[in-house]
Parts: sequence; C-alpha cells; structure tokens
Amino acid sequence: MIMRIYQEADYAAMSRRAANLIAAEVIRKPNCVLGLATGSTPVGAYKQLAVWNQQGDLSFKEVQSVNLDEYKGLAPSHDQSYRYFMQTNLFDHIDIDIAKTHVPDGLAADADTECARYDELVRSLGYADLQLLGLGRNGHIGFNEPCDRFVKETHVVDLTQSTIDANARFFASADDVPRQALTMGIGCIMAARRVLLIASGEDKADAVYNAFCGPITPQCPASILQLHNDVVLVGDKAALSKLAAAGVPVCE
Ligand code: GLP
Repeated sequence: MIMRIYQEADYAAMSRRAANLIAAEVIRKPNCVLGLATGSTPVGAYKQLAVWNQQGDLSFKEVQSVNLDEYKGLAPSHDQSYRYFMQTNLFDHIDIDIAKTHVPDGLAADADTECARYDELVRSLGYADLQLLGLGRNGHIGFNEPCDRFVKETHVVDLTQSTIDANARFFASADDVPRQALTMGIGCIMAARRVLLIASGEDKADAVYNAFCGPITPQCPASILQLHNDVVLVGDKAALSKLAAAGVPVCE
C-alpha cells in the first residue's frame, strides 16, 4: 500500500485539502473520470470546487463523472436521491456537461440489469482516475456494507440498520429511508487509479482506524483499500485521532 495521510485541523481545512487534490486531477487531465461520492462529508469540498470553477480557475467541461451509488426506488427528482444531491451540491454550480455525469438509476425496472449496465459503463470509461470516497461509521464505502465477502460488481444491497439510522437524519423518519441501494462494487472502486478517502468527526475515528490499521476483511469494507497502491486519506484531527494515537505518521 502506498498511502499519504493528511491530517487537517477541522472540517473546513479537510474540505479545502480534498478540493485541492480533486482540482489537481482535473487540471492535470481535463477529460479525467472523477468517481464522486455523496453524504455530508464531501459537501465542503464540492462548494470549494464550485467557487474555483466560477472564478475561472478550473473547468469541468470535459470531465466525466461516475457516482458510487443510489437509493433503490428514489426518483432523480426526490430530494434525498443521490442524483438530486449531486445536482444541488455540485453539478448545478459548475460547468460540467450533465450528459457526462453518471449515477445509477434508482428507478430502473430491473435493478440487476441496471447494475450490470452501470458496471459496464464504468469499465467502458476506463474506470475513475480519481475516486472520492466517504466512510460509513461501520466502515462502508459507497453502499458496500459489512458482509461475509467483498462483492466485486455493481449490485443491489440491503442497507444495514446502522446505515439506515445514520442516514435517517436526512429523511422525515427512519421509516422513510430506503432499505436497498444500488452500489458500485469493490471491483470498480479498486480499479480507480487513485483513491481519495475523506473523513470528518470523532464518530468516524473507529472506522478510519479499522480501515487502515485493522485486518483486511469484508466486515470492514474500506479495509480493502490497504491493497490499493495509491490511496490518499484526508481527515480532520477528530477522525484521525485513533490513527495518530497508534503512532501512524501523518502529514500536517
Ligand atoms: C452514505 C453513502 C456513502 C457515504 C456515507 C457517509 O451511506 N452511501 O457513500 O460515504 O453515507 O456519509 P457521511 O459523509 O454523511 O457521514
């Protein structure tokens, strides 16, 4: 594993560092494939990228994007769908060509066929040059939940109670959280040339520690990243606290 760890003071600094790394990729390769993530963690980085885009420092015109996942059963117009999240948090504020943005279709009549289509799409784009990842409190990446095996392909997943509870804050109640999602599998994530994992807050400290210092196990899906040869972890002090306590060297 070749890994760089940036420890930032707080969420704002973490977001700025992550945005810088994404911008560097877009500047280096204007037609790059960006793997994008949802959740509250990337929101600050997306805001920063939008500012740089509006200032004319960065263009997304030729970028292709592939998102990690989507709730099964939510329409793109649903305010908790990940397509809606991407539109409102990033795509509506930058010059990306919407036709070049890809999110699994949560309303597909046959979800398994949609998963196969999405897997083939990501493969045909040559996989992500940079895959941005958040981290679930239980170590999930995308919606690859703790499980007894790593699932390689894009697939339909049953969400765990811990994820339903964690994501209930975005819905009227936990009952409204979809029970299933379509998620890129571990294969596409690991095929990305570089992985950028971001984490913020004390409630991610155990997941960060288990992902990078624990055993490689599908019970902590992010632990597979120990086998990737180009991983950058950007976290705030709280999220990295257990790594730091274990003596793992970090860049400040
Ligand atoms: C969701 C998403 C993940 C994300 C995770 C963490 O379940 N499917 O891609 O990383 O939540 O979210 P947050 O950043 O809000 O903690």
